[in-house]
Amino acid sequence: MSTAGERPRLLIAEPESFDSEVAALLSQHAEVVLRKATVHELARAFEEFDAVWIRLGFRIEASMLSKATRCRVLACPATGLDHIDLIACQAHGIRVVSLKGEVEFLRNVRATAEHTIALMLALTRKIPWAAGSVLKGTWNRDRFRGRELHEKTIGLVGMGRLGSLVAKMLTGFELHTLGFDPRVDFPGHLVERVETLDMLLARSDVVSIHVSYERTTHHLIGAAQLSQMRPTAFLINTSRGGVLDEAALLAALGSGALAGAALDVMEGEPHAMLDDHPLVRYACTHDNLLIVPHIGGNTWESTRKTELFIARKVLAALAAGPAT
Ligand code: GLV
Repeated sequence: MSTAGERPRLLIAEPESFDSEVAALLSQHAEVVLRKATVHELARAFEEFDAVWIRLGFRIEASMLSKATRCRVLACPATGLDHIDLIACQAHGIRVVSLKGEVEFLRNVRATAEHTIALMLALTRKIPWAAGSVLKGTWNRDRFRGRELHEKTIGLVGMGRLGSLVAKMLTGFELHTLGFDPRVDFPGHLVERVETLDMLLARSDVVSIHVSYERTTHHLIGAAQLSQMRPTAFLINTSRGGVLDEAALLAALGSGALAGAALDVMEGEPHAMLDDHPLVRYACTHDNLLIVPHIGGNTWESTRKTELFIARKVLAALAAGPAT
């Protein structure tokens, strides 16, 4: 633990392109170390630093905190915290500082909603594969005939902040939007509310997932749900990998039960990706599965805003003393 008068020590363990002004702000109040850590180094950091800042590159499990004698604050500029064992953090007196529940602040963080639209268009217009073919020296217009969003039905699973933002952004396409979400504050002026997930899946040309990952949403979209979708339909997942049963998705794509999918997130990422992943293998040889490495929130604008916001929360948490 830092002693009275000593500046708290903060490790920024995923420092790539960390905003320099935010680092400067933090440095006014803390000794800041920007150093890319290995898993082993991160476990040690919980002994050596008062605060540790990560993004989505680590899984913080109880075993990693076994020597967490000094750390009081774990910062992560994300809303989804399924990569952090929150109970273990609490047991070690570590406050987790994140974007979860920061409704007001998040109103202006649009990156993932824009990215959802980008994935929809990239998938339905076959943009990655068309661009790849040009790089290989071919110019084949016919092979890349796509689908329009105009007059289609888009089904949004989850009508919280991101589902609602996506619905708003889609209005310019002049299409029909369905939403499924049991919430009471359902934004009915934007979309047609459907009573069941199956109804949404059966009616949609494009389904986009916007629920947080919890025990109740684990494999929310599995074989039974995919079988409700039209063979001409597309699926977009920018929420969390665990919401989708990946084996069922692979089977649906392989059998032609689904026209295509775009994934920003994968179950067990980033570590699961180091192995020979069946979906990645499928994507290497098919032009109906697009996978990107969880870049939904990763814009310069959103990163800067969120780093600044989290930095202020970290400083307040360090100033507030030990968590109770
Ligand atoms: C990004 O994926 C987030 O959870 O904020």
